[in-house]
Amino acid sequence: PSNHHLHQSSATPRQTPPRSQTLSTRREAYERDFPLYKQPVEVGCFSLDSRRRFFNDSRQMRYYVEPERSPNFDLRDGYKERYVKRDENVKEKLDHILRWIIANRSKLTSKLTTNASCPLDFDFVTWRGHLTKLLTTPYETREGWLLAVTRFNGTLYISEVETEAARRERENRPERNKEMMYWGYKFEQYMCADDTNSEPDPSGVVNTNEAFCTVVQTRLTDHKLLFSGEVDCRDRDPGAPPPPACYVELKTSAEICTPKQRSNFHRFKLLKWWAQSFLPGVPRVVAGFRDHDGTVVSVETFQISKISQLIKNEYNCWKPTVCMNFCCDFLSFVKREATEDNPSVVYLFSWEPHNDVTYSVHRDSRYSFLPDWYIKEMTR
Ligand code: A3P
Ligand code: MG
Ligand code: MG
Repeated sequence: PSNHHLHQSSATPRQTPPRSQTLSTRREAYERDFPLYKQPVEVGCFSLDSRRRFFNDSRQMRYYVEPERSPNFDLRDGYKERYVKRDENVKEKLDHILRWIIANRSKLTSKLTTNASCPLDFDFVTWRGHLTKLLTTPYETREGWLLAVTRFNGTLYISEVETEAARRERENRPERNKEMMYWGYKFEQYMCADDTNSEPDPSGVVNTNEAFCTVVQTRLTDHKLLFSGEVDCRDRDPGAPPPPACYVELKTSAEICTPKQRSNFHRFKLLKWWAQSFLPGVPRVVAGFRDHDGTVVSVETFQISKISQLIKNEYNCWKPTVCMNFCCDFLSFVKREATEDNPSVVYLFSWEPHNDVTYSVHRDSRYSFLPDWYIKEMTR
């Protein structure tokens, strides 16, 4: 019924209207009621250690420690002497999530059919970060994306492929940007303790291989989703609500000094922050505002549920409903087009700003991403 945003691809009249091979990303096409998005439920978690090794547990969980109001954290401290950076040339694709699925298979399949050959009861498996990119697509004007999709045993796996432009940007990153990437992780170190009753240790090493990831299940209209996302820390109060409601996302941002800066913060930063945390049901973001020298001058908490109110006064601002409806329609588009159930076939969905989403099909290509160990384990 609401296919008004799908372009008609054929000029020849037919009995049934032609299905478009492209999907519009125009905001106006997605201005309708907010779609059903079920409260995300945590079904498990995993950890990646300082060498990026997988553990099916919460050993990398950290605990949020409330700072002073103007803490004067020096985010430059330790750069580069106490910094171990994850190797961005290593493409992990969905591997960690797939390892988690194999380790937790019995939790995922229904109690009546706990045999290994039972298909997963999910339409989509992916990273939260990939869904964040989909949510912000109608408002993105700079960076396109490539999403590889494989249908296997009825489930659609979505794994990002780095675009040529993104690779070039990464390889030519100015030194200032490299340092500012460190600042975000350094802020986490000032704000987090390793145990419920210890204090943060800013004298330690910042190692970006380390991660704690939540795995959540939810539903967006008729799409059953399983995805994982990194969580910065949790409330240390033992009386805090169960995950994901106890989780806290940490962010840094440039100090806001002018109305223009405030407007830009609402229009661009809060969109990214909202999309990232709304998806897994993380209720709050704690933001450290820093000056040009990397000193945190203030800390402020943003409730995700209040962000849409905060931005309502911005002219021509982003809307949560547009983000969610676009994501929903993209997933419907993927379901409709990626029909061949074959682990070595990739449907490569591609988008560049100011264009529609398109796709191409690739067999046994460099885009195939489901590892043999996963296929073997899931076809047993
Ligand atoms: P900030 O977001 O505070 O700048 P996350 O906030 O998702 O937990 O990520 C932690 C930090 O990783 C970020 O802190 C930032 O420093 C770095 N980071 C994450 N994604 C990035 C990206 N796309 N480009 C550059 N830096 C990124
Ligand atoms: Mg993080
Ligand atoms: Mg963060």
